Amino acid sequence: MNILFVGDVVGQRSTSFLTKRLPQLKRTYTIDMTIVNGENSADGNGITPVSADMLLEAADVITTGNHCFRRREMSERYETSDVIIRPANLGDTVGRGFTVFDMGKTRVAVINLIGMAFMENCDNPFRCADEILQNIDTPNIIVDFHAEATSEKKAMGYYLAGRVSAVIGTHTHVQTADEQILAGHTGYITDVGFTGVRDSVLGIDKDVIIKRLITYYPQRHTYPDGDIMINAVVVSIDEKCGKCTGIERINICE
Ligand SMILES: [Fe+2]
Ligand SMILES: [Fe+2]
Repeated sequence: MNILFVGDVVGQRSTSFLTKRLPQLKRTYTIDMTIVNGENSADGNGITPVSADMLLEAADVITTGNHCFRRREMSERYETSDVIIRPANLGDTVGRGFTVFDMGKTRVAVINLIGMAFMENCDNPFRCADEILQNIDTPNIIVDFHAEATSEKKAMGYYLAGRVSAVIGTHTHVQTADEQILAGHTGYITDVGFTGVRDSVLGIDKDVIIKRLITYYPQRHTYPDGDIMINAVVVSIDEKCGKCTGIERINICE
């Protein structure tokens, strides 16, 4: 089984671009299931029902991160949707922190966790992962670890090695070149990267960010024109035991 995991998609134009491009990508890599981190999929940041619906035209599960609750209009969707999740270690609030996606012949659990370093207050993601794993009865498990610190992400990879199929880092919007299989079982990458305009600072107009850093005054974030880059990984899994047999980085810009 091949699972496509796409890094944080930034803004409505990138969301629409990705949705149109996904069917072809899925054919190229014979993808069985698609997961997209949608925490920045709406213009003005966060995720809205409109951006979520657009992604779900081509994706099966949406994960999020520190921007999950930025848009109030999304709260009802978190409560009603089985396939849109938010970090599990944000406590007992709206929505769910993991989901089990039923593909008929097999089931795949997707868990969303957020890191502790340079992030909002959250419960311990390592202990939270332990708790969730006790309640999951499929060996096919993908973890989106939405975190800033590379050390925390590496530690999570080793902590869950042998217990989940993959630990995929998100949030930094910069793809790392360290994909590997840990303990002969768990696919890992520190950060899968982002989907948005390549000629930008993490998806935002570079001149706006430079101006802010030089003047110290807040600036209105805008999205630049330009070619859109898709950052993703394809995780191949032996669905009988949940073992990752390959992890391949994708970095497309056309
Ligand atoms: Fe984030
Ligand atoms: Fe993001």
